Amino acid sequence: MAVFWKPMAAGLLLTVSLTLLGWGVEAQGGTQAKKVVSGEATVYLGQDRDIWRPIIHTTSNLSDISSIKSTFQLRTFDPEGAIFYGDTKNGDDWFVLGLKDGLPLMQFSIGGNHVSAEGGPQLNDGKWHKLEVSNQKNFVILDVDGSKGLVVGMGGPSKQTEEVQTGELRLALGGILIDKEKMMIQFDPKMDGCVREGSWLNLRAPWEVEVEELWPCYQDIIPGSFFPGTGFAVFNTSVFPVEGGKGVKIEFRGNFTMMHGTILSIRAPGQEMMLTLMADNNTQEVTLTFGSEKISMKSDNFKKLVITFEEEMLQVLQVRAKFQDLQIKSVRNSGFLTTWRNGRIAFGGLLGEGEDNVGSQFLTGCLEMIQVMGRDLDLDFTVKHPSIVSHSCPA
Ligand SMILES: *[C@@H]1O[C@H](CO)[C@@H](O)[C@H](O)[C@H]1NC(C)=O
Ligand SMILES: *[C@@H]1O[C@H](CO)[C@@H](O)[C@H](O)[C@H]1NC(C)=O
Ligand SMILES: *[C@@H]1O[C@H](CO)[C@@H](O)[C@H](O)[C@H]1NC(C)=O
Ligand SMILES: *[C@@H]1O[C@H](CO)[C@@H](O)[C@H](O)[C@H]1NC(C)=O
Repeated sequence: MAVFWKPMAAGLLLTVSLTLLGWGVEAQGGTQAKKVVSGEATVYLGQDRDIWRPIIHTTSNLSDISSIKSTFQLRTFDPEGAIFYGDTKNGDDWFVLGLKDGLPLMQFSIGGNHVSAEGGPQLNDGKWHKLEVSNQKNFVILDVDGSKGLVVGMGGPSKQTEEVQTGELRLALGGILIDKEKMMIQFDPKMDGCVREGSWLNLRAPWEVEVEELWPCYQDIIPGSFFPGTGFAVFNTSVFPVEGGKGVKIEFRGNFTMMHGTILSIRAPGQEMMLTLMADNNTQEVTLTFGSEKISMKSDNFKKLVITFEEEMLQVLQVRAKFQDLQIKSVRNSGFLTTWRNGRIAFGGLLGEGEDNVGSQFLTGCLEMIQVMGRDLDLDFTVKHPSIVSHSCPA
């Protein structure tokens, strides 16, 4: 990527500001020594922080750069997020590699010209993929697992690469160092993914860590949402409109014997709880309460649970490989219609009485799949506690 930066740096000999950016000064002059890691370190990108802020970053002089290539490995089940960022001229020229819909998305701006491209192979399959970003003449090239992934031309006359370089190059993982408004294609930067074995140009300098302690990358992961027992995720029920006369269908998959706490709760502010689904790892039971109705199920009896309800009906389907158990009950005064108009639905905790997001009896465990009305739920798109990992669980 270095050469990619050189043309622009050259023309700017006079305009390059030598002032270090705010975070650079802080990193060196702060009272507390910042943590550093090697560029080869395994780094989890989804850690709690301001969502656009990188998890680690490094700064080098352009004059020290002789390689045009960065390689690293990426593993994620998350379809969307920021992976790798680089800039020069304090962010006037920049490059971002991320994922959108599971595909690589490159965006960059050089000398005021914006370019973006999306494509290549689907990467969010939970396997380690080797990525290589390089620059050849007027092209930025992304290789994935040794094959061409995405090639983007920059236009304009071919530039010399032997020009004198000054100024700084900044690299960052898991976020960006410029205003998010500069992105031509908007995306959610939170990336539940890991990067390892990075080789960044020819740079050997350590990277500064933006957080107190780096969260670990688990050896093995499975797709799902992981709840560590410290918080929940809340949606307004209005996000899931009920079509005329139909009920609500909610589906969970997971190993329910390993869960403890509240899987689901639905309630409107100031009203009684409408529905709860609780797992207890001591009694090895999962209990569903809907209005006046209560159903207890053995946790090891199913791998998938499908709950369908409407004003006066509750239907529960327990599914295990070849075995299914369907229960249908009629219910009185479930409060379904009123609740669904202005209520809230929480995953991983029990909703309180008010409108605040205070919950209790949080879930410990992995929900391998959550579907509402037949659609996969992405917890990145709502208010959720930062401890919840939205796309993977430790296996
Ligand atoms: C870049 O070069 C300047 C001047 O030679 C030096 O003071 C500075 O420490 C260098 N910065 C880095 C990050 O190497
Ligand atoms: C739910 O709706 C209320 C009122 O419209 C809004 O203030 C709140 O942010 C919404 N909550 C979520 C989780 O979307
Ligand atoms: C659930 O987890 C337990 C404990 O690890 C395991 O023994 C059991 O086989 C798992 N059940 C299923 C259905 O995978
Ligand atoms: C039940 O889950 C809780 C929370 O994860 C855990 O602390 C406890 O040890 C578990 N108990 C059993 C019997 O597995």
